[in-house]
Amino acid sequence: MQADYTETPPAGAACTGAYRVGAYGVGACWAARAWLRAGGRLAPARRKGHNGRMTPPYDAPTPDAPPKRLSVLGSTGSIGTQALQVARWRGYEVVALAAGRNAARLIEQVRTFRPQLVSCDAAVADEVRAALPAGTQLAVGEPAAVAAHPADVVVAAIPGYAGLEPTLAALREGRHVALANKEAMVVAGPLVWETARAHGARLTPVDSELSALFQCLQGEPREAVAALVLTASGGPFRLAPEDLSGVSPAAALKHPTWNMGHKVTIDSATLFNKGLEVLESHFFFDWPLERIEVVIHPQSLVHSLVRFKDGNLKAQIGSHDMRLPIQVALEAPDRPPTPLAPLPLVGVWEFYEPDTARFPSLALAYEAGRRGGTAPAALNAADEVAVEAFLAGRIGFMDIPRALEHALTQVPHAALSWEAIPEADREARRAVRALFRL
Ligand SMILES: NC(=O)c1ccc[n+]([C@@H]2O[C@H](COP(=O)([O-])OP(=O)(O)OC[C@H]3O[C@@H](n4cnc5c(N)ncnc54)[C@H](OP(=O)(O)O)[C@@H]3O)[C@@H](O)[C@H]2O)c1
Repeated sequence: MQADYTETPPAGAACTGAYRVGAYGVGACWAARAWLRAGGRLAPARRKGHNGRMTPPYDAPTPDAPPKRLSVLGSTGSIGTQALQVARWRGYEVVALAAGRNAARLIEQVRTFRPQLVSCDAAVADEVRAALPAGTQLAVGEPAAVAAHPADVVVAAIPGYAGLEPTLAALREGRHVALANKEAMVVAGPLVWETARAHGARLTPVDSELSALFQCLQGEPREAVAALVLTASGGPFRLAPEDLSGVSPAAALKHPTWNMGHKVTIDSATLFNKGLEVLESHFFFDWPLERIEVVIHPQSLVHSLVRFKDGNLKAQIGSHDMRLPIQVALEAPDRPPTPLAPLPLVGVWEFYEPDTARFPSLALAYEAGRRGGTAPAALNAADEVAVEAFLAGRIGFMDIPRALEHALTQVPHAALSWEAIPEADREARRAVRALFRL
C-alpha cells in the first residue's frame, strides 16, 4: 500500500510553533489546567505564527514561523505513516525517521520528506543506502540515534519492548515525545516519568483511549475525578465463537473498527490491548488501578470517559482515525483544524461489561498492576512471545492468556529498576518459550 502524505489540507490552517509544558502525565493535565486558569498561553519554545493569522498553504510556513521539526520512530508502520500525514497537514519539517525492514516504504518517505537522518534494520541497509539523497545520513539499526537527533517533537511508535530504549533516548534529550509505544509506559512507567522530569522532557499520549482521557481531564481538578473509563471495541470475537481456542490468526487479524499493526490487532482480539491501556493509564496519569474501569463499546466512537464524583461523565468522541489523537499529541493544547469530515452523530452506540471469562487477559493485566514492580514487564514480554507464536501458527489463541498467567505466576517479580526490567523481560520470554517448547 502506498501511503498518501499529500491529503488536501484544511483551508486556512494556522501555522503553529512548538510549546514546552514543563509538566508530565497527570502533571501535564493539571499544569495545563492551572495554566488555563491563569488565562495565559504557554511560553513558545520557538516563535509561533498565531495571533489569529492564517497561513495557507498548509505545508509552507511563513519565514517568521519556522515549522515544527518532527522525528518519527516506526515511520513505516501504521502510526508512523499516519503521523507523517499529520506532518504534511501541519507543514512540519520531518528531520529524522527510524524504520525496521520495510525498505520500499522508508525510501518513499525519504524521497517525500528529505530527512537529515534515517535508521533501518541491517538486513535492508544496502538497499536503503543506495537510494538516499545527498543530505540524508543513515544510522544502521540505531533508532535511538534518530530519537536523539535535534527535533521539537518525536513520535515514538516502535512497538513492544524494543520501543523503550529509543523513547528514553528522546526523553534524555529533553524532547517532547508523542508516545504511541504504550509498552514503554507499561513496563517502566514511573522510571520513564523520572527520566522525563530529570531532562525537562514532555510526554503526550497517542493511543486514542489515553488521548481521550488526556483531553477529558484538561481543566478538571484531580480531586473531582472518581474514575477513568476506558472503552474497548471488544475485537472480532466479542459475540462469537463461545470457545475461542480454535480461532485462526487470519480471523483474529480482522479488527472490526481499526486498521493497525499485527501485534496491537491480536492484542485487541484477546483484550490484552485494553489490559495494556489500563496499565498505561495507571502509570501515565499516576492514577489508582482500582479506579480504572473498562467498558465494551463496539462502535469505537467514544474513545474513553472520565467519571466525576458529582455523577457527571465526560467523554471524548471522534471518528476511527488515529490521525486525530496523533495531532492532539503533537499540538496540545492547540486544536488546529484537520481535513477530516465531521463525524455524523447517527446510529446506536452500545456499552457492555467486558467478559473476563472468555477474555482472561484483561484481568491478568489488572493483576500484574496490583503486583507492581516488574510484573507488568514480565506480562508484556510473555505477550510479545505468545503473539508472535500465535501468528506463526505455533500456539492457539487461548495459549496467549495461558502464557500471561504463566509469566505472572512463575517469573519472580522484583522492585522496579532499570536493572530489574531487562531481567524480568528475559526471564518471562524464556519461561514462555519453555512452556510451549518454542
Ligand atoms: N496502529 C494503531 O492504530 C495504534 C493505536 C494505538 C497505539 N498503537 C501503538 O503504537 C505502536 C506502533 O504500532 P503500529 O500499529 O504502528 O505498529 P506497526 O504497524 O507494526 O509498525 C511498527 C513500526 O516500527 C518499526 N519497527 C518494529 N520493530 C522495530 C525495531 N526493533 N527497530 C526499529 N523499528 C522497528 C516497523 O518497521 P518495519 O515495518 O519497517 O519493519 C514499523 O515502522 C505500538 O506500541 C502500538 O501498540 C498503535
